[in-house]
Amino acid sequence: MGKPVIAGNWKMHMTCAQARDWLATFLPLIADTPDDRELVVAPPFTAISTTAEITSGSRLEISSQNVHWEAEGAFTGEIAPSMLEEHGVRYAIVGHSEPRKYFSESDEQINHRARSAQAHGLIPIVCVGESDEQRSRGEAERVIRRQVEQGLEGLDPNRLVVAYEPIWAIGTGKTCESSEANRICGLIRSWVGAPDLIIQYGGSVKPGNIDELMGMSDIDGVLVGGASLDAESFARIANYQVA
Ligand code: 13P
Repeated sequence: MGKPVIAGNWKMHMTCAQARDWLATFLPLIADTPDDRELVVAPPFTAISTTAEITSGSRLEISSQNVHWEAEGAFTGEIAPSMLEEHGVRYAIVGHSEPRKYFSESDEQINHRARSAQAHGLIPIVCVGESDEQRSRGEAERVIRRQVEQGLEGLDPNRLVVAYEPIWAIGTGKTCESSEANRICGLIRSWVGAPDLIIQYGGSVKPGNIDELMGMSDIDGVLVGGASLDAESFARIANYQVA
């Protein structure tokens, strides 16, 4: 079984100067964090190099917020795996609900991105999750199952993280009940058929709910948005304690 993965997704936040300040506060706060968990931050592309330089030799790993399936070419605005590898990036978030919504990313494209990540030694963090309307229509499980079946097709589950992020819980302050998040993560595990798959929960994770979430049997980490922008909050999340 891999270690739980605690990841902060900075989204479209953080200049290099802000990343430097954040790291100056954060790194001392994880000096005594137990080694039983993996700590990851996903800066915007422009802050990856600065973050990589400052974190080199530390235990904080870097994720990108995207990766393309081609090695190079005419793909304006995209990023190639080799460009990430050059900076020691270890993870790549793909299939987040924001590009799914704003750029109409399909499960097929997400699958291409995730396969490309694995082919280049990156660990994809593949996000899945239902909208409010889908949940109220009773379609949550069907939607997530389709995202899992199409998005994860052909991937090696031993070099993969799946993040269950219900869209209605992202940036809203409404966390999914930990028992319900755990139930969905358990379903994802059974659909993938890989007992050791790392499955994160994401959506309004905060210092106040991290310990309860990490105490759940099928939640192996978290993907944190807003609360990861504050170094002290994210350090508290990284230092979660399970009773
Ligand atoms: P929040 O933690 O701000 O709800 O965002 C979650 C998320 O989208 C992480 O990828």
